[in-house]
Amino acid sequence: MIIQRKKLKIGIIGIGNVGLQVLKDIQSNDKINKFLNVEKILVRDKDKYLNILESEFGVDSPVLEKLTDDFNNFINSDIDTVVELIGGSNPAKEYVKEALNYKKNVVTANKEIIASSIEDLTSSAILNNVKIRFEAAVGAGIPLIEVLIDMLKQNKISKITGIINGTSNYILSSMHNSNKSFDESLKEAQNLGFAESDPTNDIGGFDAMYKASILGSIAFGGKVPIESIAVKGIENLSQKDISYSKELGFVIKLLAVSENKSSKIYSKVAPYLVPENHPLAKVSDNYNAIEIKGDLVGNLWFQGQGAGKLSTTSAVIGDLLGIENSTSGNLALEDNELNFLSDDETVGKKYIRLNVEDKFGVLEKIAGIFSRNKVSIASVIQKEVDAKGLADLVIMTHESLENNLKNSLDEIQKLNFIKEDPKTFEIYKL
Ligand SMILES: NC(=O)c1ccc[n+]([C@@H]2O[C@H](COP(=O)([O-])OP(=O)(O)OC[C@H]3O[C@@H](n4cnc5c(N)ncnc54)[C@H](OP(=O)(O)O)[C@@H]3O)[C@@H](O)[C@H]2O)c1
Repeated sequence: MIIQRKKLKIGIIGIGNVGLQVLKDIQSNDKINKFLNVEKILVRDKDKYLNILESEFGVDSPVLEKLTDDFNNFINSDIDTVVELIGGSNPAKEYVKEALNYKKNVVTANKEIIASSIEDLTSSAILNNVKIRFEAAVGAGIPLIEVLIDMLKQNKISKITGIINGTSNYILSSMHNSNKSFDESLKEAQNLGFAESDPTNDIGGFDAMYKASILGSIAFGGKVPIESIAVKGIENLSQKDISYSKELGFVIKLLAVSENKSSKIYSKVAPYLVPENHPLAKVSDNYNAIEIKGDLVGNLWFQGQGAGKLSTTSAVIGDLLGIENSTSGNLALEDNELNFLSDDETVGKKYIRLNVEDKFGVLEKIAGIFSRNKVSIASVIQKEVDAKGLADLVIMTHESLENNLKNSLDEIQKLNFIKEDPKTFEIYKL
């Protein structure tokens, strides 16, 4: 006996990069449109999108009749599933909340609203007896959310480490491989469409912070608010640090590291020096890679294109096709109040670069301050003295308490032979 599955009646909000690709794939792929039917498309400017859809599907296409610029008309139609693809926080969040209240399933690729309102939105879906899925919000088409919610739920997850922002990874790869400056590499990423004209969210680490919050909230069984995540971007990274790290056998990567250590959660997004033979060091360009450590399953490794309209469309359509029978669509965050470790309480090894006047007694003074603050030095390398009589000191520390390190650097910064703000980077712990 062949059981006919009922077709989902879909309403799409936002026909940008991803929205248009989702629409094109549903319209053109028989494997997909057997199960999905687009009934409504909500846009802000109907004339603009009439032109876009006419040139994409032809002037006689029935798709043109689905366009509306009126949310009431959209939500009161007989769609059963809303696909939110406008991004940003508002009105995206209001639309998603309304859709759930109107008892429509929701699929979204929006990391911002899921990171800020995961409890709110998932519990609203349960109360309204519908589903919400958001696989594309982290790692685009790389399967992570469904895997964490459904397939790894029997595991206690102790650590998630990832390169989860393709733009910053592209910039860092270009600085490392082609010796380009940060500005040149950013421009290159923008020209290739890997970085937006306003790159703040990517290079400042905020995009990775949203994604780390989502992964952590699912993996650790309670909300990991973005405010609990220590964030440092790559915007102040110079070619000097890239090349000194290279000489020392490291590659600098923007990592999101989330750990559950003795029932305290710690999450940080920052540039890390990763040993050059570690698999994360080899993840280049706009690729993402995520390592998940579970008590039963051990270390799992996921890698792929974590952005781009095709990869994102794969996740959005996957969410739609599986929504009726999905467990992940019914995510119920556990009612756990998680405990968090503050950044100051964490322990790690550091790379520190100090630009100093090359004169007698400098090293002794710096070493004394570190020692008084219980920061133990593993090595010091003095780079060549420049024409102005200044030299870089590259200091690698043993494991030290973050708070002690900050106190040392506060003191060191005030010394009159220090000529630039100290540069500090994490060293990745294997
Ligand atoms: N692109 C990727 O690689 C990628 C990867 C993973 C996740 N995502 C997520 O996918 C979502 C969409 O990304 P995208 O790259 O497609 O963005 P995009 O190209 O900027 O498209 C956004 C679309 O939303 C429309 N829009 C904005 N506000 C609207 C409103 N109030 N009502 C109706 N339409 C509205 C915009 O139309 P107008 O401005 O023309 O009105 C535009 O067409 C975002 O949440 C993004 O974070 C994207």
